[in-house]
Amino acid sequence: MSLLITAFSSILITVSAGTTTFNVPLNPLGSATLDAAPVGISYEFFQFPSYLTNVSHTWSCSAQLQRLTGTWPRIRIGGTSQDRALYDPSLSAYVLYPGYENTFSGPLNFTFGPSFIELAGRYPGTVVMGLNRGGDNLTNTIEAAKAAVNGMKNLYAIELGNEPDIYPYTGFNNIAPDPATWTPAAEAASEAEWQLAVGSALRQTHIVQAGVFESSPANFSAVELIENERSANSRALRYIKDFSHHNYPQSTYFTVDLPSLMSHESVVSNVREFERDVVAAEKEGWEYVFGETNSVSGGGSNVTSPTFGSALWLLDYSLRSASIGIRRNYYHQCTIGICYYSFWDRTNINAPFYGAYVATAAMAGATYISGLDEGTSNYGGYVAYSNDRTMMKVILVNTDYYSGNAARPSETIVVKGLQERRVRTRRFTAPSALSRVDEGELPSFGGQYFDKDNCDLTGRAVTEDIKVMEGTASFNVAASEALIIDLCE
Ligand SMILES: *[C@@H]1O[C@H](CO)[C@@H](O)[C@H](O)[C@H]1NC(C)=O
Ligand SMILES: *[C@@H]1O[C@H](CO)[C@@H](O)[C@H](O)[C@H]1NC(C)=O
Ligand SMILES: *[C@@H]1O[C@H](CO)[C@@H](O)[C@H](O)[C@H]1NC(C)=O
Ligand SMILES: *[C@@H]1O[C@H](CO)[C@@H](O)[C@H](O)[C@H]1NC(C)=O
Ligand SMILES: *[C@@H]1O[C@H](CO)[C@@H](O)[C@H](O)[C@H]1NC(C)=O
Repeated sequence: MSLLITAFSSILITVSAGTTTFNVPLNPLGSATLDAAPVGISYEFFQFPSYLTNVSHTWSCSAQLQRLTGTWPRIRIGGTSQDRALYDPSLSAYVLYPGYENTFSGPLNFTFGPSFIELAGRYPGTVVMGLNRGGDNLTNTIEAAKAAVNGMKNLYAIELGNEPDIYPYTGFNNIAPDPATWTPAAEAASEAEWQLAVGSALRQTHIVQAGVFESSPANFSAVELIENERSANSRALRYIKDFSHHNYPQSTYFTVDLPSLMSHESVVSNVREFERDVVAAEKEGWEYVFGETNSVSGGGSNVTSPTFGSALWLLDYSLRSASIGIRRNYYHQCTIGICYYSFWDRTNINAPFYGAYVATAAMAGATYISGLDEGTSNYGGYVAYSNDRTMMKVILVNTDYYSGNAARPSETIVVKGLQERRVRTRRFTAPSALSRVDEGELPSFGGQYFDKDNCDLTGRAVTEDIKVMEGTASFNVAASEALIIDLCE
């Protein structure tokens, strides 16, 4: 055993459980390249101004991600409330609604003004603006789209509707009166009609982030949309820039369960559902993104979403998505104060942000990422490569659920195919999978954590050096823990 025990790891009582071996390929497995900032943020439409002007962590913590990549986290502004928003060019407020509705999807209807678009235009990263189709006012959406295109140099794309596949169930019955007739073909015809109308009014092709679907890609998908738009109105396809699917592995309406959320096997099988769709979008020259995603739909679970287990899920899921060619994940931030998966609120910097930070650190500066396993156990691995296809980092996750009771088991993960003689690791850990920042249990990454006043990295940095013998090194990763291994030291 060549592990140099540090003060940090020596205090852990660990029990060795087993051994897993990963072989690192010399070169990336696929040709898909990484985005400069694959970990993005989605702000619920009506909450966007509050997040930017009245929650200081939005700036200080976003800047932490920017420091890692050199690129501000890309954002998408949207969600259920985008289909309830009417653009009012004479409104001076960012948003105006008849009384504050403190629910995760916001007020039933409201207006937004030019200052909203100005605020979005001042964000230093790219912005996807979610516009309204559910409210069925095409004239108004064209007005808003023109204001966005003219006012935002950072505009990446616009969306025309949020989760239109479930319109019949979410109350947008003008567009989708009847679930029985709102088939993928009917939705695609509506989507094509709006793309044509808005795109031609803007005189701009490649402007729409299409799809924006909620339910499984088995029914509403890129594969389906491409085929159905082609037969409904193929001229609409030229207005599409990229394709978005939403993804929440769990829902408050069904079973919420942390061990199954964070399990590497579940992560791999969840992401695998989208593989065919990614390939179809790539054939059209479109990027495929998870345009709104997080652990549990419906504002998150008060029990599981704020935990360190969810942070580990977020790390593993971000890397797995990137490794199958999903260009970026926009992690949703909902109503401030009642958003259980949120990266931060007015008080705390929550565990999910740590997952986002470590995922960003793992991919920063890399051009390729490959998964090292087929998702047949709770132990997973990734390797990130640079532009010249040399290995930069190996990331190992042990997603065995550790509740904090009894001794903490650990897995020995043997990595073969390394090129260096010694590597340096940073551990991503917390007292247990159930640890929550609002209960005083902070995660740590390489010994450090975020100061809740200013999002500064605080605490003494702790790394562990591991010797490599004939290309092989062994790493101890405890249950509910991950390790980031820097290869270019
Ligand atoms: C800012 O947040 C505080 C709560 O911390 C709230 O009382 C106030 O109304 C908010 N101001 C705006 C302009 O949203
Ligand atoms: C907007 O919501 C208010 C209640 O919040 C309601 O009285 C009004 O009819 C709604 N307007 C439209 C156009 O749906
Ligand atoms: C639809 O949009 C137009 C143009 O912005 C606006 O004048 C009209 O009041 C809107 N209709 C409804 C029902 O909100
Ligand atoms: C797809 O649609 C069919 C028919 O509406 C429905 O029975 C089925 O549950 C849907 N499948 C998925 C995976 O959503
Ligand atoms: C979590 O939410 C559920 C359902 O809304 C509620 O019954 C439960 O009391 C909440 N638990 C905590 C710890 O807040």
